Amino acid sequence: MNLNIALLAGDGIGPEIIEQAVKVTNAVCERRGHTPIYKEGITGAAAIDKVGEPYPEETHKICMESDAVLFGAIGDPKFDNNPKAKVRPEQGLLAMRKKLGLYANIRPVSTFPSLLHKSPLRPELIENADFVAIRELTGGIYFGRPQGRSEDGNTAYDSSVYTKEEIERICKLGFEYAQKRRKKLTVVDKANVLATSRLWRETAQGMEKDYPDIEVEYMFVDNAAMQLIQWPKRFDVIVTENMFGDILTDEASVITGSLGLLPSASIGLHTSVFEPIHGSYPQAAGKNIANPIATILSAALMFENAFNLKEEAEIIRDAVKKSLEADAVTEDINKEKSLTTSEVGDWLVNYIRQNY
Ligand code: IPM
Ligand code: MN
Repeated sequence: MNLNIALLAGDGIGPEIIEQAVKVTNAVCERRGHTPIYKEGITGAAAIDKVGEPYPEETHKICMESDAVLFGAIGDPKFDNNPKAKVRPEQGLLAMRKKLGLYANIRPVSTFPSLLHKSPLRPELIENADFVAIRELTGGIYFGRPQGRSEDGNTAYDSSVYTKEEIERICKLGFEYAQKRRKKLTVVDKANVLATSRLWRETAQGMEKDYPDIEVEYMFVDNAAMQLIQWPKRFDVIVTENMFGDILTDEASVITGSLGLLPSASIGLHTSVFEPIHGSYPQAAGKNIANPIATILSAALMFENAFNLKEEAEIIRDAVKKSLEADAVTEDINKEKSLTTSEVGDWLVNYIRQNY
C-alpha cells in the first residue's frame, strides 16, 4: 500500500525526532511491503524565517493532499520573551489545527513496566494505569473572540467560546472510545464557575441515554488534576475542553516517567495529524539528545488511525517496549548510560529488521 505522508518537522528538536520516526516508519514499511511517499512542509519559526508566516498555504496544501501528517514540534525562544512579536510560531500549529478541522486530540497514557521506577509517583499507584485523554482542539479559549488588548494596552482579554455542536461531536468521540474500552467516561469541566462548562455538562448529560452501557462521571478540573496523579488507575476515558486538556496531559506525562514518551493523534474533518505531546525543547536542538519515542509512537498511531494498519502499529509498540526494557534510552530516562536520539532510532530499526 502507498502511504502518502506529509512531514512537518518544525522547530527545535523537531527535525531530529522526525528523522527517527521516518527511519522507523521506513523499516516497518520495508518489512510489510508498503511504500511511504513523503512530502515535506515548512512550519513554525522555520517558516516565519523563510516566508513570514508559520503555516504557509503551500504547507496546508501538502497536508490536505496527504493521507496523514507527521508533525515534530513548534516554538522558538526568540519569540517567547517578545510580547510584541507580530506572529508567533505557535500560531502555525493552531492555524493547522483549525484549517484541517482537527477538533479532537487523542492522548493515550499508559505506563511501561520497565519504567515504573522513573516516575516520581509510587510504582503501585501507576502500575497498569491506562487511560485516554480526549482533548477538544479547535475551540475554547485558544480560539474564542474577542481576544486582545485595550487601546491603552493595560487590559487584556481572552474568550472561551463553545457551541453545543462542538461539544457534542467531541463527547460523541469520548463515549465511543469508552465503548471500545472499559466503558467509563469522565467529563472534566469547571461547571461551578464557567458558563461554557455548564453547557458541556448539560450537553454530555443529554447524550448519556444514547450510551446506556457507559458509566459517566463529571469532575471539576481542579479535582481531576489532583486525582490524576493520586489515583490514575481510576480513569478510562477523559473528555475535556481545549485548555484543560492541554494542562492535564502534560501533568499525565509524569505517570509514564517522561514527557518524551507521550504520542498523540489529532483527528477531525480533513487529514489527521500525529505529533508528540511535548514541545520543541530548544535547549536540546541539534544536540542529538532528545527522546524520539513520543514521535515514534505517534507514527504507530498514524499506522493504526490513518491507514488502518494495526499490526504495523503493534510492531512499533513492541520495538519501543523492547528498547525500554533493554535500557536503550535517551538521557531523560537514563542519565548515567544513554543513547543519542539517532542511536535510539537505529536500535529500533535493527530490532524491527531482525524480528519482523
Ligand atoms: C500542545 C502544545 C500547544 C498547545 C502549544 C505549542 C500551542 O502545548 O500541543 O499541547 O497548547 O496546544
Ligand atoms: Mn501542551
